[in-house]
Amino acid sequence: MEIFHISAECYPVAKVGGLADVVGALPKYLNQLGHQAKVIVPGYDTKFSRENEFENVHNGQLTLGYFQFSYSILKEKRNQLGFELYQIVIPDLFDRPNIYSYEDDTERFLAFQIAFLNWITETNQYPDILHCHDHHSGLIPFMVQNCYNYQHLKQIPTVLTIHNAQYQGWFEANKLHYLPDFHPSKLGFLEWNGAINPLASAIKCVWKITTVSPSYLEEISSNANGLENLLRYERRKSIGILNGIDNEVWNAKTDEMLAINYDLNDFIKGKTKNKKILCEQFNLDFKKPLFTFIGRLVGEKGADLLTEICSVALNQNVNKINILVLGSGDAGVESSLENLKSFYYGNYNAYIGYNEKLAHQIYAGADFLLMPSRVEPCGLNQMYALRYGTIPIVRRTGGLKDTVLDIGDGGFGICHNETSVFDVNYSINRAINLYKDSEKFDAVRKSTMQIDHSWDKVATEYINVYQSLKKLTK
Ligand code: GLC
Repeated sequence: MEIFHISAECYPVAKVGGLADVVGALPKYLNQLGHQAKVIVPGYDTKFSRENEFENVHNGQLTLGYFQFSYSILKEKRNQLGFELYQIVIPDLFDRPNIYSYEDDTERFLAFQIAFLNWITETNQYPDILHCHDHHSGLIPFMVQNCYNYQHLKQIPTVLTIHNAQYQGWFEANKLHYLPDFHPSKLGFLEWNGAINPLASAIKCVWKITTVSPSYLEEISSNANGLENLLRYERRKSIGILNGIDNEVWNAKTDEMLAINYDLNDFIKGKTKNKKILCEQFNLDFKKPLFTFIGRLVGEKGADLLTEICSVALNQNVNKINILVLGSGDAGVESSLENLKSFYYGNYNAYIGYNEKLAHQIYAGADFLLMPSRVEPCGLNQMYALRYGTIPIVRRTGGLKDTVLDIGDGGFGICHNETSVFDVNYSINRAINLYKDSEKFDAVRKSTMQIDHSWDKVATEYINVYQSLKKLTK
């Protein structure tokens, strides 16, 4: 089968969060199973786009209301990612360094989707499946079903993966004329709560919805930033498929970003050496348990409580623990985490920013990973931590619930019920006790490293979804 993944992010081309990791890995594993999965992303001005060779495979025009844009389709020349990668270059809209957060994001992602549909129309491509990810490609199911220009694509099954229902891409009805023409009776498929809502539209129009974990599918019927009723209504066409991780990228034995490689046989030595180097770099004491937080500094991840969590833990355990934070996001959170450095010098440090290499080094060198998320559709970080022998401390929610079992229940992680300073600190204290019992600590770490969350297994679940949809077209 030929499957087109249309997404705003794809690792290592353009990454903000876990969406990129999934789109950068799943297609590779679909291809390994004998399919042709391709990825289409906007042509941002990123390091990857600058440093790799692309060939121009198509040029075209698109209309966005009164505006006209030229676009070109660039194909990555060497297929080095394990799938064909296409970038849609639209000068003025995407040749910028960041992926999101521009005032004209509505125009940018609409133009991206229209350019995509124009391209496959002008080049007569009829893939077997159009797989959209989050709201940035959420208007495609509506357009292929209802816009006059794309009626010939109507029979192609569409899939929507919801990585995060909090972000929906809504915009005012006065921008409706950006969309290619459709019959006014179809307007209802675009609207939700008085605005044009691309994620809601996808939920309504798509053939199949997948969420990135089974528990998240349950949760969004009561917590989905206003889409609860709609998601409940469309429950029958929804399925939760737990994300995998790319075991080729996340392999402590071969990971080139690590100072010292290790595997199951020598993980104690390997992790200690990585920890030593990391602690030297961040002025921490490698003999103490090292707790870390890696991720976007936003409320969803519980990052607004992080400063308080750190100070309470560091006060309760004076000179007994280390905490290292890596992340960027909310400016207030960034600066309060930054300020904490001078109060807990030698026990706490933070790197404010995005740094993929450092993230790998922290997974290898840390002892415990904190994930106090309020909302976590899947969460990949806990899976990376497990694979690198770092014990996750998580709030029981979404994918965290599906992947981390508490040591008290015969599992390998530490779980708490609430995103609260109290709950996290209670867990930190449990972790300190576990760390003191080095035999048990090592046994738990060893067991985490053997858990298999690879995409090999998960990719077949997507194939089953695609095949069941394909059958409906015959
Ligand atoms: C989003 C979610 C995260 C998930 C990722 C990949 O970033 O917040 O929980 O793991 O997408 O699906």
